[in-house]
Amino acid sequence: MTKKMNKRMLSGIKPTGRPHIGNYFGAMRQFVELQDSFESVFVFIADYHALNTAKNPEELTNNILNLAIDYLAIGLDPQKVIFYQQSKISEHTELAWIFNTLTPMPVLERAHVYKDAKAKGKEISVGDFDYPILMSSDILIYDADVVPVGRDQKQHIEIARDTAQRFNNLYGDTFNLPEEYILESTQTIPGIDGKKMSKSYKNTIPLFSTEEEIENLSKRVVTNSDGSFPENLFTIHKLFKNEDELKPIYEKYAGQFKILKEILAEDINTFLTPLRNRRLEIEKNKSEVLDILEKGAEVAKNIASNKMVDVRKKLGVIIN
Ligand code: TYM
Repeated sequence: MTKKMNKRMLSGIKPTGRPHIGNYFGAMRQFVELQDSFESVFVFIADYHALNTAKNPEELTNNILNLAIDYLAIGLDPQKVIFYQQSKISEHTELAWIFNTLTPMPVLERAHVYKDAKAKGKEISVGDFDYPILMSSDILIYDADVVPVGRDQKQHIEIARDTAQRFNNLYGDTFNLPEEYILESTQTIPGIDGKKMSKSYKNTIPLFSTEEEIENLSKRVVTNSDGSFPENLFTIHKLFKNEDELKPIYEKYAGQFKILKEILAEDINTFLTPLRNRRLEIEKNKSEVLDILEKGAEVAKNIASNKMVDVRKKLGVIIN
């Protein structure tokens, strides 16, 4: 058995619909791969972050449960991982408020996500603007060391580090400084249109797609009409088949995109079949899934509430 690092790993994902292969290869797969490597591992469902876009209660409830099932189906092991819903630990939002009082507006005005939304003229809520601060508290409340994420979250981890530093400078050493863990090869997975895969671009391949959905989506992966090398197709395909095996196939069928897309669909389906089967099994036992989340929340709550005792003392709000 490999020796575990005496460090804490933590990450989360939003229940905003079906997770896609960008979420999987960019982040979720790393949670499973690293669950044996760290002394403690925290993985959570970021349901309060999701509220910025999720306004349909019934849909949100379903998405939370389905995401929990997805996590277990990809191999997250509740024996090794503290697995919980963010909203069950009210200390996250409490700490976010405290961080709000320390954070200068320009720090958040410089955040890419906010700047992009503003540039596109989108309606921005206070929750959207404050997103990185709730994320800072998700991470810092457990003194996480390592945070596996996709490239788009790098700036948020930097903000978390700065937030920890700001608090520590003012009140003394309290929070650990976290580091992002981003795999170069999968830091930004492209969607079927070649832009970053994202639910908001409607260019995703949902992770738990049916065989038929995969066949249809594979046909829609963009290729150049001049017959040149299909970079995007190849980048997506590489996630499912070894590059050395793939190159001769792309040479043999150069310019024959229909065939290459059929091979892509086959390879994705081969990869997904065992995950789908596992998911079907887990789905039969929803009460067990709820139990797992309940137990995870208990452990997380205990750690978070102890941390808050220290934080409140340092702030000076405890008067006895
Ligand atoms: P979410 O649900 O938007 O994304 C979950 C994870 O998927 C990664 N990701 C991608 N990686 C590579 N290529 C893509 N096309 C792609 N699309 C998404 C994201 O980088 C992310 O790692 N803000 C977080 C949720 C969160 C969180 C946290 C994460 C809330 N609090 C504390 C870590 C620590 C998010 O982006 O969720």
